[in-house]
Amino acid sequence: METIDAILSRKSIRAFEEKEVEDEKIEILMKAGMAAPSAMNTQPWEFYVCKSEESKKAIKDVMAFGKYNAGIIIVPCVREMATIPLRHDLCYCDLGAASENILLAAHDLGLGAVWCAVYPDKNKMKTIRKVLEAPIGVTPYCCLYVGYPAKDDKSKVKEKYDEKRVKIL
Ligand SMILES: Cc1cc2nc3c(=O)[nH]c(=O)nc-3n(C[C@H](O)[C@H](O)[C@H](O)COP(=O)(O)O)c2cc1C
Repeated sequence: METIDAILSRKSIRAFEEKEVEDEKIEILMKAGMAAPSAMNTQPWEFYVCKSEESKKAIKDVMAFGKYNAGIIIVPCVREMATIPLRHDLCYCDLGAASENILLAAHDLGLGAVWCAVYPDKNKMKTIRKVLEAPIGVTPYCCLYVGYPAKDDKSKVKEKYDEKRVKIL
């Protein structure tokens, strides 16, 4: 798939087939995430991949707006020790870039995905960290539900382009 086609045809998928996501595809998703740009190339991330039913259920139990039956749930996390002192907030831009890369790579691989918010809800960030049994210093940023789109999925690519929002100087 061409890059522009992938960007313009991506959409959030919330209904999935009961089909496993292959390890080879998970590795490509991880490579896509880690290929993202980051401030001063700090790469302040770590990725947890929930594959087991038990770990996915534990995540879904705390995600009020993320109870989807995906094959895997990827949780990109901030690696606090790798963030830039005094410019800590930049890490959230880095994690956003990595997360979007994963959504686009999933689409390219014939998978579907949806981003569910964790950051900036401090309570949720802490709860998900405990669910993952991640150490203090590894902070969940979002949950990406990824799997094979359900055959009867009715979601549409939304028309978002609005030339009035573009100011060319
Ligand atoms: C920061 C962020 C938080 C989001 N949180 C949720 C969420 O909690 N649950 C959900 O179903 N979708 C969530 N989404 C997906 C958006 O609803 C979706 O991207 C938006 O409606 C546009 O649709 P599209 O992705 O199909 O273009 C989130 C997306 C972003 C970027």
